[in-house]
Amino acid sequence: MITLGIEGTAHTLGIGVVDSRYEVLADIREIYEPVRGIHPREASQFMSENIKKVLDAALTKADVCMGEVGLVSFSQGPGMGPCLRTIATAARALSLHYGIPILGVNHCIAHIEVGKILCGLKDPLTLYVSGGNTQILKLKEGYYRIFGETLDIGVGNMLDKFGRETDLKHPAGPKIEKLARKGARYIELPYVVKGTDLSFSGLLTSALQKTKDNPIEDVCFSLQETAFAMLTEVTERALAHLAAKEVLLTGGVGNNMRLQEMLGVMAEDHDALFDVPRGYCSDNGVMIALLGLLMHNSGIRSDISQTYVKQRFRTDTVEIKW
Ligand code: ATP
Ligand code: FE2
Repeated sequence: MITLGIEGTAHTLGIGVVDSRYEVLADIREIYEPVRGIHPREASQFMSENIKKVLDAALTKADVCMGEVGLVSFSQGPGMGPCLRTIATAARALSLHYGIPILGVNHCIAHIEVGKILCGLKDPLTLYVSGGNTQILKLKEGYYRIFGETLDIGVGNMLDKFGRETDLKHPAGPKIEKLARKGARYIELPYVVKGTDLSFSGLLTSALQKTKDNPIEDVCFSLQETAFAMLTEVTERALAHLAAKEVLLTGGVGNNMRLQEMLGVMAEDHDALFDVPRGYCSDNGVMIALLGLLMHNSGIRSDISQTYVKQRFRTDTVEIKW
């Protein structure tokens, strides 16, 4: 069965097409570039203006027509209301017009499942790091339990805010990574870990202050070293506590090579496998299609009346039946 997945929770409009063997047939993404922070209404307008183009490109790439699609899945939340409503409307229209079953999926769980499928992991401890989210999760008794999370902003959001104040274009994560490679001197910054929870707002304020009298490269280097050491410490604490044998890194910040390196070394110390879904850490439609297919294959069905969007859709409220 061909599954089409639509992502559009914030900045990325993505449509993925997968087949019944979970193979990727198409992965088309269009990214909204905000001038100063993501404006929900503008981002949703970007989605409605681009959806036809992205859909046509995905179908062409996958070499399928809508008549061959057996399931339409879409990001039901969490995310920005106007964006979520735009893609949900598109998914409903396709479902009704072509008579195709529809499933709304949790965006955060999609980030985890794409990692498990592409990396071939069975029961990983997951570090999910993106703009809006920073969580350490593991499947336990039918739910992804959150063992630790940020107490304020997501680590990606922290990097993007740092970039906004220092004139790095959005998203700042990749630019900070590049600048950090040229940094050599570590500048002391606040390191805030509470058990398996973390906080990034003090780190952000302090790093911004340090840019006044230090080279930006050194500040970026120190910002990454501090934030990623915090993430590695909490992941290690959860790993030791849960005796996990696999560590999965996912979400947009998972693209960062330095973070991958630090977690890889830590996992090796504990004889645990470490992996990251390279190319699929950032928001994409493929992960939405894959989760839709997993849910469908485990017997989950939904009706149009159940496709209302959930702006604050918590990861630990979804029963994992697959
Ligand atoms: P979510 O709804 O899951 O929070 P999101 O809308 O934040 O998703 P993602 O694509 O998962 O979207 O993550 C985007 C974040 O990833 C941005 O904050 C961006 O700066 C960050 N990012 C992307 N590439 C890198 C990188 N190489 N290093 C660090 N951060 C990165
Ligand atoms: Fe995301």
